[in-house]
Amino acid sequence: MLDKKIVIGITGGIAAYKSAELVRLLVKEGCSVQAVMTTAAQSFVAPLTFSTLTGRPVYHNLFAGPIQSSTVHIDLARWPDLVVVAPATANLIGKAAHGLADDLLSTALLAIRLESCPVILAPAMNTAMLCNPAVQDNLALLRRRGFIIADPLAGDLACGEAGEGRMVEPEQLLALIKRTLAATGDYKGETVLVTAGPTREALDPVRFLSNHSSGRMGYALARAARERGARVILVSGPTSLEPPAGVEFYPVTTAREMFRAVMGFFPIVDIVIKTAAVADFRPELIAEQKIKKGEELQLKLVRNPDILEELGAHKDKQFLVGFAAETADLLTHARVKMERKNLDLIVVNDVTREGAGFETETNIVQLLYRAGGVEEFPLMSKLELSHRILDRIRACRKG
Ligand code: PMT
Repeated sequence: MLDKKIVIGITGGIAAYKSAELVRLLVKEGCSVQAVMTTAAQSFVAPLTFSTLTGRPVYHNLFAGPIQSSTVHIDLARWPDLVVVAPATANLIGKAAHGLADDLLSTALLAIRLESCPVILAPAMNTAMLCNPAVQDNLALLRRRGFIIADPLAGDLACGEAGEGRMVEPEQLLALIKRTLAATGDYKGETVLVTAGPTREALDPVRFLSNHSSGRMGYALARAARERGARVILVSGPTSLEPPAGVEFYPVTTAREMFRAVMGFFPIVDIVIKTAAVADFRPELIAEQKIKKGEELQLKLVRNPDILEELGAHKDKQFLVGFAAETADLLTHARVKMERKNLDLIVVNDVTREGAGFETETNIVQLLYRAGGVEEFPLMSKLELSHRILDRIRACRKG
């Protein structure tokens, strides 16, 4: 049983009907739920639906609520353990991003202290609206400030189009709410260093050697560790991702830059998770001018430092987690890496499997423990997997 106080904000979108199911699930979990509806939301679902499900009058008016108080927005901000806005329209997202407060919900959101009351926004809208740079910039801004965004799903939309923009399902939102509330800071006081993304090794001013890493796995780990209260240092190769809110972000390009950054932080960290796909080789020489076409081109590559091996050789108190991107004989290769790099845990992904490895939103992995034993996880989102990995790291360190 969750048994928490939840404010649910409902804005004007067809997905508002799904919020009734979310409220039902929350009440079943023993939560006290207070619904706040915008005027537009009431065109989709009647307030009576929510007052019946919550057993409380619905709030919708800044000045004339069920309780005659001039500070109802402040009361609403002080009361809950968590706020969820589902569905969150482009309008609400824009107002929250820019500090606009022209109704009860947007005003209450401004009064929330995110450090003590997490806010989850579940966007739902037409794909073109979602992809609009204005909406994307607003979401990125809110993420940086610490709002949790329940990324919308792809599928059939009410407008007749298909694409991204469907609100996540009530069960998924409940799982996110539970995870957010359970993140009671079990990593508080820990410093976690995560590396993510690819490295790039220049051949000439316009070309480089690299790989397909998108950074998703590493960014999900950084986000999960931060959500659980860790100080997170994220050293990342070039990606198109927005760094998760609250992490200390150090962008690098080459393996040698990553090496220097990681070695610099190593003495102050408790846990290192090396998700980055580091280029093992780099061109011996970087041409000063763009290399011109010829019949053939011979490149001489030289070894880059193995960052993780170096950490393994110098580790003191630190718990070292490596990733192994394999295509065959997974466990044999991973075991060799674990020994050679002196790791405590290695996460093995078969990067040839559908839904696993590079660029996907999901992963399928096995965990190989220093102390022996292998644990297999089914396909899951990289964020969900990150929380499982963090659970296992904690268990290993507790002994
Ligand atoms: O970024 P995504 O698109 O989400 O994809 C995720 C991922 C596939 C990149 C990730 O899940 C993954 O498998 N990362 C490790 C990729 C890799 O480089 O594996 P490896 O088997 O070559 O290296 C083993 C370990 O040594 C890794 O922890 C790596 O960071 C580290 N290493 C490797 C070479 C090197 N020169 N220095 C290192 O520190």
